[in-house]
Amino acid sequence: MEAQNCPRYGTEQTLRALAFDQPKVTEAPVILIVLADREGWKLDNSTVENTFNDFVQSGKMQAEQKEWFAGVTQGLYGRDEMAAQAFANKNTGLFAMSLMYAATANGLESHPMDGFDHDGVRKEFNIPEKYWIPMLIAIGHLNPGTEIHPKGWRQSFDNIVLE
Ligand SMILES: Cc1cc2nc3c(=O)[nH]c(=O)nc-3n(C[C@H](O)[C@H](O)[C@H](O)COP(=O)(O)O)c2cc1C
Repeated sequence: MEAQNCPRYGTEQTLRALAFDQPKVTEAPVILIVLADREGWKLDNSTVENTFNDFVQSGKMQAEQKEWFAGVTQGLYGRDEMAAQAFANKNTGLFAMSLMYAATANGLESHPMDGFDHDGVRKEFNIPEKYWIPMLIAIGHLNPGTEIHPKGWRQSFDNIVLE
């Protein structure tokens, strides 16, 4: 959707201002506001509904098990706010990284951004309260002649594996 032409949403210029004036927000041809749905585990969510229906159709589950299924999702993700937030972050983080790999595989550059005013973006783009906004992602081609910094510091095997 052309955000600029849609009065419900802010423009890419307002997004750039809310992202501490980072030039890539307006320079990249595509800028994604990534949303994490804190209620995405609920039974009336279309993904959950489709997943459950698929389980039933493929014989992995019985239709009578819907209440049990609802209880499991409630127990895992609906028990408190932190569980719901963790659910949203885990799924959206996996999605965002996959999207960035897919962009790279298709010859595109992508850049995640944490540097933005969360509440400002929510307000300007009418983002409902159930969503948290983990990051913005700019996607596009590198301008010819642009040099990317060499890869930064990386944790070692010993840093990340606990024995
Ligand atoms: C969660 C997250 C948020 C980031 N936010 C910003 C940002 O707001 N602005 C920015 O220029 N880079 C941002 N970066 C990108 C990093 O600065 C860096 O360019 C990128 O992670 C590549 O790191 P490397 O140099 O170690 O390969 C962010 C990265 C991550 C993982």
